[in-house]
Amino acid sequence: MSPFFAAIFLHALCLANAVNDINFSTVYEWDKFDFVWPSGSNISNNRQTFNPNYVHPRYMAVFGERLFLSLDLKSEVPATLVWLPKSGTSTAPKLHPFPSWNLHIKYREECDTIKVTQGIVADPDGRLWVLDDGTYGCSSKLWIFDLNNNDTTERVHQFPDTVVSHSSSKRSLRDVVIDKTPDDYLAYITDSESENIVVYSRKTDQSWSVKTPGRKWDALDLSPNREARQLYLTERSYSNELYSVSVSELKNEGGTAAPKRIGKWREYAYRIVIDNANILYAAFNYKKYLSKWNISEPFREQRVHEVAKLDCSWPFTFTLDADDTLWMTERNESGGVLRHKLFKAAVGARPHLLTALPTP
Ligand SMILES: *[C@@H]1O[C@H](CO)[C@@H](O)[C@H](O)[C@H]1NC(C)=O
Ligand SMILES: *[C@@H]1O[C@H](CO)[C@@H](O)[C@H](O)[C@H]1NC(C)=O
Ligand SMILES: *[C@@H]1O[C@H](CO)[C@@H](O)[C@H](O)[C@H]1NC(C)=O
Ligand SMILES: *[C@@H]1O[C@H](CO)[C@@H](O)[C@H](O)[C@H]1NC(C)=O
Ligand SMILES: *[C@@H]1O[C@H](CO)[C@@H](O)[C@H](O)[C@H]1NC(C)=O
Repeated sequence: MSPFFAAIFLHALCLANAVNDINFSTVYEWDKFDFVWPSGSNISNNRQTFNPNYVHPRYMAVFGERLFLSLDLKSEVPATLVWLPKSGTSTAPKLHPFPSWNLHIKYREECDTIKVTQGIVADPDGRLWVLDDGTYGCSSKLWIFDLNNNDTTERVHQFPDTVVSHSSSKRSLRDVVIDKTPDDYLAYITDSESENIVVYSRKTDQSWSVKTPGRKWDALDLSPNREARQLYLTERSYSNELYSVSVSELKNEGGTAAPKRIGKWREYAYRIVIDNANILYAAFNYKKYLSKWNISEPFREQRVHEVAKLDCSWPFTFTLDADDTLWMTERNESGGVLRHKLFKAAVGARPHLLTALPTP
């Protein structure tokens, strides 16, 4: 076989092997994102500086009929937290700021608005938990909104300096997951600039940090098994390593935890989600595929979804909802034409939070 035909043959083989285990269907497709702009207020000034090319979804949550997206901070994008309907007549719906434009007034010096949204998560009681990294002048916060009550602000927790540094160069909050215990909701949070895992208790409105000497973290999620719940974490240092720690090690303020090394991905995983059937899904920086691992078996990376070409950092973000659906956005920067899509797939499994709780 000539090298030319060998190349074609190999190419065809690769295409034939492209994995397509998840049956995604397209929900929306955007050539350009747009916002639902307010009329007549100062905020509409943001419209002049808006550039849809800079809208880049980073984290995602779903509750009821809405889908929430955390967007990369860019001066050309007027809000870092938006929502859109899960279904509708438009094939490219506009983005609504969440909860309102007033909480996204740009360049406002006061620290009473949402500054830099990172991880977001919806709990089964209809609260949206929003991690806000803050700015140079405003410290980091955890916001809790009540989606069943007109999106009112239920809680704004400002992290003390001892938990998340008030110096913006010494912190970088990333992601948050929620653990529903018989009498509380706990949030576990990664700060990729500190060798800590941050914990927040809704009942006491207190936060604390647990030291993990020598290691910093990025993506995280919880295993569904309540009795021996593990927090899975990806190491920030581009080591591609996955770790886990029992949540029982995270109870004590000022304590030290020793996450165990589980295995190594082929690439750097920036997002992980675990469903209640013990399947961990992962997405990788600049890669056009998703992988999975069944956490009740020894670590083994398996590709489950692969597409042609995206040429994008953080190409996907995804989440599970109560209807056993996996939702995923895809950003395609290939060929100089920017495109976004929203997909969904019935996967027959839901978030761990919706696994039945034992009666207290
Ligand atoms: C894939 O999903 C679509 C839409 O949800 C459905 O109509 C189709 O039957 C599914 N295909 C397979 C092979 O499951
Ligand atoms: C709107 O802009 C004007 C002029 O820049 C300013 O005086 C006023 O305080 C602003 N209003 C709000 C609600 O920010
Ligand atoms: C939400 O706001 C609307 C209009 O302001 C009001 O009529 C309604 O009662 C509110 N709903 C709840 C659950 O508070
Ligand atoms: C995960 O692995 C366990 C143990 O081998 C197996 O019983 C289970 O069916 C697997 N789950 C899925 C969804 O494949
Ligand atoms: C991304 O866009 C390029 C250029 O338009 C196209 O060739 C490629 O197939 C697209 N990728 C996907 C996964 O649709």
